[in-house]
Amino acid sequence: MKFFVDTAEIDEIRELQATGLLDGVTTNPSLVAKSGRDFKEVIAEICDVVDGPVSAEVAATDYDGMVAEGNVLRKIAENVAIKVPLTVDGLKACKYFRDHDTMVNVTLCFSANQALLAAKVGATFISPFIGRLDDINLPGMDLIADIRTIYDNYAFTTEILAASIRSANHVSEAALAGADVATIPASVIRKMYDHPLTDKGLAAFVKDWKSTGQSII
Ligand code: G3P
Repeated sequence: MKFFVDTAEIDEIRELQATGLLDGVTTNPSLVAKSGRDFKEVIAEICDVVDGPVSAEVAATDYDGMVAEGNVLRKIAENVAIKVPLTVDGLKACKYFRDHDTMVNVTLCFSANQALLAAKVGATFISPFIGRLDDINLPGMDLIADIRTIYDNYAFTTEILAASIRSANHVSEAALAGADVATIPASVIRKMYDHPLTDKGLAAFVKDWKSTGQSII
């Protein structure tokens, strides 16, 4: 499973890059607003740090506007993936960018039918939002499993990018359901390392090692 980090904070991205875990980055207008940074500047900086896909979302909601904005964004770096919403115009724009050899992440996917449409227009990534479905008492993880089955039935190559991940459990559940990628907040990636038995076991090993009076170097 590939790990993308869902953030526009360059310091978090640098820190994660150093762990060797990071395969890409996703941003969205809310995350850019939270960062307080200039959008194009921050995307350029992220693309300098990360070799994998960096999703940059268009702000326009009409086809011409999305194409015009996406054409600006894709010139920032070769690893920019244009993020478009799952609408009629968004999927038309997806086809345009795929025809122009640019990666596309189709976002705001909440149903298997929407994922089917995105695959048919050649999306590089489809982003089902797990947490936001859970928020309204719908089983987010079932959507990942359904999309996996549909894509496998027809050998679609669109990668399933589990988004709106809110907990470490979401990550392992998405992996079990067959997601190709998870885009995860940095705070959740940090939690994935944790297990109380690891802490307990390590404390015991450290104590016992000290009692030997030995040193390795
Ligand atoms: O980037 C899209 C997605 O991951 C947003 O997550 O937590 O705002 O639903 P959330």
